[in-house]
Amino acid sequence: MTRYLVTAALPYANGPIHLGHLAGCYLPADVYVRWLKARGEEVLLICGTDEHGVAIELRARKEGCTPTELVDRYYTQIKKSFDDFGIEFSHFSRTSRPIHHETATDFFRSLYEKGVFEERVTEQFYDEEAGQFLADRYLIGVCPKCSFDQAYGDQCERCGSSLSPDELIKPRSALSGATPVLRSTRNWFLPMDKLAEGSVFRTYAERVANWRSHVRGQFNSWINQGLMARSMTRDLNWGIPVPLKGAEGKVLYVWFDAPIGYISATREYFRLQGGVDSEEAWKTWWQSPDTQLVHFIGKDNIVFHTIIFPMILAEQGSYVLPAQVPANEFLNLEGEKISTSRNHAIWLHEYLVDLPGRQDELRYVLTAIAPESKDSDFTWLDYQARVNNELVAILGNFVNRVMVLTHKFCNGRVPDPATGHALSVDLHPALESCWLEVDNAREELYALMGEFRLREAQVAMMRLARAGNKFLAETEPWKRVKEDPQTAAGILYVGLQICAHLAVACEPFLPATSQKIRGQLGWNTLSAEFIREWWIDCASTSDCRDRHNPHLLGSEQELGAAVHLFTPISNEQIQPLRDRLVRFSTAQGESADAQAVQSKNQNNTEMEYEKFVPVKPEVAYPDFEKLDLRVAQIRSAERVEGADKLLKLDIGLGFEQRVVVSGIAQYFEPEGLVGQKVVLLANLAPRKIRGQMSQGMILLAENSDGRLVFARPDADAEPGAVIR
Ligand code: MF3
Ligand code: ZN
Repeated sequence: MTRYLVTAALPYANGPIHLGHLAGCYLPADVYVRWLKARGEEVLLICGTDEHGVAIELRARKEGCTPTELVDRYYTQIKKSFDDFGIEFSHFSRTSRPIHHETATDFFRSLYEKGVFEERVTEQFYDEEAGQFLADRYLIGVCPKCSFDQAYGDQCERCGSSLSPDELIKPRSALSGATPVLRSTRNWFLPMDKLAEGSVFRTYAERVANWRSHVRGQFNSWINQGLMARSMTRDLNWGIPVPLKGAEGKVLYVWFDAPIGYISATREYFRLQGGVDSEEAWKTWWQSPDTQLVHFIGKDNIVFHTIIFPMILAEQGSYVLPAQVPANEFLNLEGEKISTSRNHAIWLHEYLVDLPGRQDELRYVLTAIAPESKDSDFTWLDYQARVNNELVAILGNFVNRVMVLTHKFCNGRVPDPATGHALSVDLHPALESCWLEVDNAREELYALMGEFRLREAQVAMMRLARAGNKFLAETEPWKRVKEDPQTAAGILYVGLQICAHLAVACEPFLPATSQKIRGQLGWNTLSAEFIREWWIDCASTSDCRDRHNPHLLGSEQELGAAVHLFTPISNEQIQPLRDRLVRFSTAQGESADAQAVQSKNQNNTEMEYEKFVPVKPEVAYPDFEKLDLRVAQIRSAERVEGADKLLKLDIGLGFEQRVVVSGIAQYFEPEGLVGQKVVLLANLAPRKIRGQMSQGMILLAENSDGRLVFARPDADAEPGAVIR
């Protein structure tokens, strides 16, 4: 029997959890695992805190405490946030525990004995002031790919590129700001290029073809650009000591030890379970071919989970390799990247202070906008709209109407099923189309869950509630009840059934809501076996009405009180939350310089950059009229000898030709420019650039990553036309 070993990326214990984390991997992992459990599958959801690495040390410095104090505090807070939002891990461990140190150390030693590592002496950046090597995030500099000036020695958090320290432009120390020097040191490298040729890895790599396209894309681009050896050890103090002679003062690379945390957490889980098999059971989960290993992660973790960790597992032998890595892209906030250093974030613990008891609302919205295939944006207005127009108006409203009417017309008891089966002929079309919709929605729901398309799956779940509302609107039991109470009861019987279907269908997404619906239906004895059958039946095209009528709700079953599942969110509630984030954005614009200076002084290593340039002071129309903007067409382009930034462009204006020298050589190939239409500032005073008269200026836009792109006129625009 298949066994599902599901993991969610171990969060660094260097700060609380925010919306981006939840949407990135914890919520999807929980939704998926709840679904597997409901289906009766054997499943574990493993997680814990990642407590090593430079991210921890740097944060501890900043907060003025020891790394141990830091991780203890955040472990507790992070664990609580997950509990609060119904993220149900089978086990939530931490990488500072002895069982993890032991597991990771054994792993390293056994790979070492197998001769997997290459021992190399290399030159590494060293901070003479601080007296230590500058591994990973201890080194900051300018990203060679996007020019972001706060890129780390291992990764650029703006463009997501993975970097090696020597790629950084103008490297500096995160500790002292000093320019580092090079010193030689011995480390143990994973020869990834060689390991990629291993047969286990190659067989595994074929699976990736079926994964999400952005995951496959990153995987392929790593493989295709040629993998390089990567050191699995670091010259640092905080971490797991390298278990080799002559490696004193060195620790395991955090990305070596952390994923092994999934294994140690599984070991710990079974140890805590006790029983005869408690020391061996984890092996069945990690080493049996029946296991489906699934890693839920954010996109910045892709290379580690699709290449490096699988390679390590493959070399170790006998381990299963991931069957799926459903990574999500990033969640933005009110149109901007989430930034913890600028506090442009919504923290889970703060959310609960602002909107107490609304965990399921957040789960719903984050699944509705899940960044499964591209980055997505959370805004408070969208949150409010989804809560009010979807949860309140569709799901909550449906369940409440059925409950209230049943209390009113049927003494709060489930009507006799016979009434539901014997609805008069005029109601048959409505009934048929309702059940057809329910069946179709269930079938779709099941299929989408299986494909990790949770966002669409939730939409399918909501179709059940929509079908219910439509049925009530078409049959109007409140009108019929006077003349024909039997029929009204029959309609409500059907309505209650749909509520029962919803209680099961929404559980993976909205666990607390599912509980509430069950409570209202007086349905507390729902057997796991029943739920399992309900889900399995979704997969077949069976007509759920016949199969489940006898089980879903017993006749005469007494209902609980009718309580609204959701309450609307008012503008007054949402406005202060919006203001808090918006005020932040404006303050950013006004004090951009102050901000930049401050971040330099702080040695701040967290993501820090301005996305939008503030709007300039206003101008009167006559000022604008002085500019002569024209549609123009590039006729030819060539590089300017001795100037690597400049292109000399021959520009056609219809009525005349001009030469314009433009500083865009880094961004465009001259050949690609010929024929392109651009906007030209035609009456800019001519200027001599590198001995060449330049007559006008081409308008360009600068993207947030510093790349220049053309402000382009419509394809129909004619060269020479005035732009105004
Ligand atoms: N702590 C890492 C991060 O937040 C994720 C570690 S995942 C693991 O990006 F696999 F290494 F555990
Ligand atoms: Zn970058």
